[in-house]
Amino acid sequence: MNRSGLTILDNICLYGTTHLMWLRAGDAYRSALPGQFMMVTCGDSEASYPDPLLGRPMSIYGLDVNEDHVRVGILYDVVGVGTRWLSRRSPGDVLEVLGPLGNGFEPDLGLRNMLLVGGGIGVAPLIWLSEWLVDRGAVVALIAGARSIEGIFPKELLRPEVEFISVTEDGSLGQKGLVTDPYRQLLSWSDQSFACGPDPMFEALHAILLEVRPTTELQALLEARMACGFGVCYSCAVFPKTGGAVKLVCTDGPMINSRTLYG
Ligand SMILES: Cc1cc2nc3c(=O)[nH]c(=O)nc-3n(C[C@H](O)[C@H](O)[C@H](O)COP(=O)(O)OP(=O)(O)OC[C@H]3O[C@@H](n4cnc5c(N)ncnc54)[C@H](O)[C@@H]3O)c2cc1C
Ligand code: FES
Repeated sequence: MNRSGLTILDNICLYGTTHLMWLRAGDAYRSALPGQFMMVTCGDSEASYPDPLLGRPMSIYGLDVNEDHVRVGILYDVVGVGTRWLSRRSPGDVLEVLGPLGNGFEPDLGLRNMLLVGGGIGVAPLIWLSEWLVDRGAVVALIAGARSIEGIFPKELLRPEVEFISVTEDGSLGQKGLVTDPYRQLLSWSDQSFACGPDPMFEALHAILLEVRPTTELQALLEARMACGFGVCYSCAVFPKTGGAVKLVCTDGPMINSRTLYG
């Protein structure tokens, strides 16, 4: 874990209300893994206190590493005060960032067919995961769901090897319905699945997993309100429905196996 000032290289609106920002990062990010996140201060860190005071957790969307440089990307939806502030930053501005944080996805590289499911902005950490898996020889299908076409990640930015299935609630792009529909259809093909999105989505996916392919696992990347990002404030505690021990999303996760959450 490392706190540093990262310089913005690029910050554009990519689609709908979703923005893509690239930052120049330090060596601490060279060993980051898909599913890890950063706490981004979304207010003037030179002020006596930034407003908003608390950092905002953002998944690592992409990592570009070579001998000379490390660039880290975030894909963020403008939903409130912090993300609105972020969307107004320009190249050259410096952000105070803590990271990389948390335990990300743990793909079993002995397996072949990987099924990824993103609900809304939950697609953010799955783009890099899809690239990472393709680079290691896996066959990858990515289901991305949103209310309408404005919330769907642009297919042309994905690696061509990734099979992309878009789902919208209003039918404005791809299949009409919810991500659970193609998940059910593709589960018998997949060896391991990974998801990021709202909690009810995980619960629905887990129920389908138990019904259709209980011998495989679903790794869920949880979103929670976070104050510290490193295990001291307990604002991100989740209580598994199994009755098992409380989990902190920031340090036990954000990836938590769906069996741990739902049994
Ligand atoms: C590990 C992790 C990774 C994340 N990765 C991403 C990412 O890659 N891209 C992205 O756009 N967002 C991501 N989020 C969610 C993101 O942190 C929140 O959207 C952000 O903090 C909102 O800040 P704000 O100041 O703009 O919104 P606020 O003004 O604080 O709130 C605006 C609205 O957003 C809701 N909200 C705020 N924070 C969260 C949250 N953590 N989870 C669910 N709802 C929230 C509030 O309830 C409110 O309705 C992630 C969250 C976690 C925990
Ligand atoms: S965010 Fe503080 S303990 Fe997890």
